[in-house]
Amino acid sequence: MTSPEPEPHPGRQRQEAIYRAGVFGHRPAVPTNFSELERAARRRMSKQAWAYVAGGAGEGSGMDRNRAALDRWAIVPRMLRDTSRRELSTELFGRRLPAPVLVAPVGAAGLVHKDADVEIGGAAAAVGVPYIFSNQGSAPMEAVAAEMDRVAAGRGADRAPRWFQLYWSTDESVVASFVGRAENMGADALVVTLDTTQLGWRPMDLNIGSLPFSRAVGIAQYTSDSAFMASVRERVAAAKASGQRPEIEVTLGAVKTLLSMARNVPGGFWRNLTSPVPRASVETFLDTYSRPSLCWDDIAALRERTRLPLLLKGILHPDDARRAVDLGVDGILVSNHGGRQIDSVIGAADALVGVADAVDGRARVILDSGVRGGADVFKALALGADAVTIGRPHIYGLAIAGRQGVQQVIENIIAEFDITMGLAGVTSPQELTVDALHR
Ligand code: GLV
Repeated sequence: MTSPEPEPHPGRQRQEAIYRAGVFGHRPAVPTNFSELERAARRRMSKQAWAYVAGGAGEGSGMDRNRAALDRWAIVPRMLRDTSRRELSTELFGRRLPAPVLVAPVGAAGLVHKDADVEIGGAAAAVGVPYIFSNQGSAPMEAVAAEMDRVAAGRGADRAPRWFQLYWSTDESVVASFVGRAENMGADALVVTLDTTQLGWRPMDLNIGSLPFSRAVGIAQYTSDSAFMASVRERVAAAKASGQRPEIEVTLGAVKTLLSMARNVPGGFWRNLTSPVPRASVETFLDTYSRPSLCWDDIAALRERTRLPLLLKGILHPDDARRAVDLGVDGILVSNHGGRQIDSVIGAADALVGVADAVDGRARVILDSGVRGGADVFKALALGADAVTIGRPHIYGLAIAGRQGVQQVIENIIAEFDITMGLAGVTSPQELTVDALHR
């Protein structure tokens, strides 16, 4: 007699879909492992997009350390444990997620694809995982939320899960406005990024003189914001009253920048070409991004101000984690910003163990930085994370195949995680402990 087999798991389903399509000569839209994915994406990306996405701080050793921190652990599978019934789902802040995977905020994804954030949101909603909207997004948060809900409704699902990531501007009215908008668009949580009180030293961008924001790519949350646009109007009025005209060196680069600004700021391309508003928007943004004086009191005040679960992103020291939890923070993203801020920074997974110990279950812990595949998800959870975020992988999927590419990247990582769990003798994320690993 055979015992009834449970529903196929996501890993098996994904493999079957790929192999079945292969019978007809079809290949998956995106490579199923990170190194091929990155190679294929590079071929589709502009020089500026590649530099911005793939680049890290300094010589890139923070990125290397992220990988080394995960690679120093090996998975030790256990045999003869019935893994025919597996459960991947995880609860975070009152919502059940299909897997402990979230889509990280990545700024200026508009460099890679038109409507980038809307496409990423649509893909995340199709899988049912949360998308953490970037403060430096290329579409207003409300537009992304609307698309996600449209996709979720199509799958008969509830409101699509989304969070909002905040950079603390030096203009407090903009901070207050962003927090209010995040609450209104149905964010399930607010993530404050702490490690970017200014941009890191990023040679790949510096060597080609490329900062997307200066071309108005990645400032859509601002140009759709009434508080921000009020100060843009003040700037325009002040410039007009002074009677001074900006001195502009007319070069091919300047013309390209002008066209990019006109395309990326609301108001219509042709009108923007002759309007002072796009340039004033960029200047206002650059003047107020971001706030190096940010300190614990600001977080305490924000804790009082919002009813949303509050997470801090960029924590790497156990004492900072402890202090955050003592302040009433609900979660920590252990992150070195994908190695983009400090060269030679500690690998995020190396910091994870100490942070998870310090938090000791009083808040949720998420590993951000360095996650490339399902085995990384497995290791992160075994080292104490409740979930992980993916960043560069989904941007590469976007570069190769738009929304479908993002969706497949997310599905592939979840599939590989599921298969890794099953083959390692584990039936749910909650079972994972460091005993599953060898250093
Ligand atoms: C910030 O958004 C970054 O570029 O990492």
